[in-house]
Order: sequence, then structure tokens, then C-alpha cells
Amino acid sequence: MERDNGFLAMRRQFLRTWAALPLALASSGVPLPRWAQAAPTPECSDGDDPTPPQMEGPFFKPRAPQRTSLLEPGINGTRLVLTGFVLSTACKPVAGALLDFWQADDHGDYDYRGYRLRGHQFSDGDGRYRLETIVPGPYPGRTRHIHVKVQAPNRAVLTTQVYFPGEAQNQDDFLFRPDLLMKIRNTGGARDGRFDFVLKLA
Ligand SMILES: [Fe+2]
Repeated sequence: MERDNGFLAMRRQFLRTWAALPLALASSGVPLPRWAQAAPTPECSDGDDPTPPQMEGPFFKPRAPQRTSLLEPGINGTRLVLTGFVLSTACKPVAGALLDFWQADDHGDYDYRGYRLRGHQFSDGDGRYRLETIVPGPYPGRTRHIHVKVQAPNRAVLTTQVYFPGEAQNQDDFLFRPDLLMKIRNTGGARDGRFDFVLKLA
């Protein structure tokens, strides 16, 4: 019994040390290691507003392949890793939610013949998702954006779009709204994006 208690105390100390490490590194100014960056926590509280819907637009195509990376040969542009959670308005993670992304390439063109830069995935047991893609190009009349449909199991589909901060064209875009801005961080030549989708499930 004594040995068990000793083991449990050691385990607790170990877990505390590792849990505190990203915070300690962040406050020391040392860049976070990749594993710490890839483990976001939800930024929400009970009673959050749901993510607002936006129009689907003319370029949605059903039956996109299941994949978490839209990168493939011939796809050029700045790499973007978009991560976040699917959450309820009560800030509970939604596991197994469908996320179907589609976007323009770096020239602002959509692929309507095939499925380039289109793909769906499901949030994990903690409600997390992770998408590897590129920063889409703007196209006439629109600022940079990524389209997405998000659906909790057996619930209604939320169709919306997410936007990039610091884009001059955001102000002139007829659909842009600030509460659909991703948080974007430059990581060398690439970008890390963060957006949590909040669904009204009641
Ligand atoms: Fe679009």
C-alpha cells in the first residue's frame, strides 16, 4: 500500500510537471514545441454564442473525401494548419462531429471537376479537429476565407465561413464578420490557425 501511494505521488508530480511545462516555456519566451502547440484547450464558457451561419455559396460539392490534409502534389501556396474544437454553447466538446471544408487555391480558384482542396473529417473524442491546407487566395468580390459545414451527430448542419485577420479586403467583403476570424500565428513560412466552432444543440 505504501509503495502504491509512493507511486501515485510520483505519477501525480510527473503529470503536474509535464502539464505545467508549456506554460512555463511560454512565459519564458521560449517557442512552444510542436506537441504543446498541437494540444489546444477550448476558449469558451457556458452560454457562449453559437458560431453564426453564412451562405454556402456556389462552390460546395458533396461527397468530398475523408481526409485531414488537403495537401497533395500541385497544391502551392502558404501552408496552413487549422486546429480547434467543436463545442456546444455550454462549452462541452462535441465528439464525432462532421467537418467538411472546401476552399479556393492560392489563385482564388475552386476545383469543381474534382475534389482538390475539399475534404471532410470528424472531431475526435475531445471535440478536436486538425486540418492541413494552404492559405486560399482571394477572388473577385471576396476576401480570403475557408468554407465549412459542421454537424454534430444527428443534428442540424451549420454552414459557415472563417476569415483571416489583417486582410485589407475584409472591410469590403459583403459577408465578412469579425466573430468568424481565425486566430493566425506565423510559424516560419507557414501559418497556424485556430478556430472553435460552437454549435447550438438544444
Ligand atoms: Fe468562397
